[in-house]
Amino acid sequence: MIEIIKNLYQFSIYIPPMDFTIHQYLLANDPAILFAAGTVQQVESILPDIREILGDKPLKYVFVSHMESDEAGGVFELLKAYPDLTVICGNLAARELPGYGYTGKIKAVSAQKTLTDGALDLQFVDYPAEVHGQNGVLCFDKKSGIFYSADLFLRFGNALGKTIDSAWKDEITAIDAARVPEAGQRKKLQDALLKITPEFVAVGHGFCVKCK
Ligand SMILES: [Fe+2]
Ligand SMILES: [Fe+2]
Repeated sequence: MIEIIKNLYQFSIYIPPMDFTIHQYLLANDPAILFAAGTVQQVESILPDIREILGDKPLKYVFVSHMESDEAGGVFELLKAYPDLTVICGNLAARELPGYGYTGKIKAVSAQKTLTDGALDLQFVDYPAEVHGQNGVLCFDKKSGIFYSADLFLRFGNALGKTIDSAWKDEITAIDAARVPEAGQRKKLQDALLKITPEFVAVGHGFCVKCK
């Protein structure tokens, strides 16, 4: 676990055969939010750290970009640890999770919605998530300038705790068909991203981006 920028803790695993990292992030503000639930195994390993960072304060939110094990798998374990937890996710995940037996609070969001709560001022971007083209969401916290990008700016390499400098516009231009195969969806996503101005991109995989 690394405090990659102030109050933002990165939890990572590196998979050598794939040269691939998987990250989660705890924004330890009041209220606290975890970006990506991680897998069950990840949650088991990071819960002691989360408890240590937050102390008596609860984890109020977990953001789930889309339904995949690295994004959503750990919600059950997190709920056991924090029974008042709210999952923030897209409409598809909000329909899917109860079908898997999830009984905790769920808040469905989309590009039209915002969520303001204490130190959080969240805005959402609709995200046709990778190969599945599924109805996912990305999250920008306007107060901290942090954007959680899930699989969007995926880079290979051992990126634990590492950050690169890049222009936000260049990152958006570089989104190609490997990330969002359908041209119309890709253009719509790029246009939506141009409307926000993050300072720091907390990526689900690869190197975080400090925006120039
Ligand atoms: Fe994914
Ligand atoms: Fe992912």
